[in-house]
Amino acid sequence: MKVIRLHSPAKINLGLWVGRKRADGYHELVTIMVPLEFGDRVRLEKTRSGICVKTTGINLNIPERANLAYRAAGLFFTATGITGGCKIFIDKNIPPGGGLGGGSSNAATVLLGLNYLFDHPLNLTQLNQLARELGSDVPFFLQPKPCVARGRGEKLRPITLPALRIVLYYPGFGISTRWAYDRLDRLKKKLTTWRFCPKIIALKLRRKEPAGLAELIRNSFETVVFRRYPELAKIKKQLLESGMVAAGLTGSGSTVYGLQYATDPMAEWLHSGSPWIITRYRPSTLSGAGTTL
Ligand code: C5P
Repeated sequence: MKVIRLHSPAKINLGLWVGRKRADGYHELVTIMVPLEFGDRVRLEKTRSGICVKTTGINLNIPERANLAYRAAGLFFTATGITGGCKIFIDKNIPPGGGLGGGSSNAATVLLGLNYLFDHPLNLTQLNQLARELGSDVPFFLQPKPCVARGRGEKLRPITLPALRIVLYYPGFGISTRWAYDRLDRLKKKLTTWRFCPKIIALKLRRKEPAGLAELIRNSFETVVFRRYPELAKIKKQLLESGMVAAGLTGSGSTVYGLQYATDPMAEWLHSGSPWIITRYRPSTLSGAGTTL
């Protein structure tokens, strides 16, 4: 096989607790990561040599070599010793800097796709090692299913969630993850004063007990991001007032999401189209990274 087309899903963080800064500069965290139907399309083509990345759709405005997909391909060829090359075409829908994991998802998809095209030279443990080198969120996208993530974000444990409808509000600008962590560090206030309980959140969602969910699904970054961008706090409030079972920032922003059960009637005001995206998490027929299109 010479060409493969893959779905590269976005994700949201259903709550995110940031703890202490570690000796390696990363922060301890606990979060629930949920893959979405919404995502990018990636096409990979085997070539004799070299790596080339072309994107359509949303313009990333970054040099080709800075693209995480390019770096993923480079790591793959170095780790396997394969002398071939590839062309990577990405049809971008996931806005960059939105906390939706677009770059990480593309990188994981490239690792999976190249491994397939070159007849599986790497096993999952080896792919996981490369994914960790690329970024804290990349391992999740190797097998995108709802997970509790701990550590740097790479220690993953699957959890069961029901089908969900997810409304995304992307404000048209991205937020730097590093900036958000720096601002959190500067806050003298202890960040660990509340407990994040992923199992209770998942249980309440499965049992359809929405009472209290909005208070349980918290995100440490909201303190610093909502202070800087009060309009995002307003969106969260509006989403909750409109009857969503939970709403909040995904990752370090900038996207704010609202959450409903997939079986809930769709609110009249819900219309897909900038700045709104309506998508789903579907447990059974999930198309994740590595799913051929
Ligand atoms: O791992 P990744 O490259 O995605 O992380 C981007 C930046 O976010 C890191 O350089 C670090 O400053 C910060 N980060 C962190 N703790 C984490 C994950 C990311 O401090 N658990």
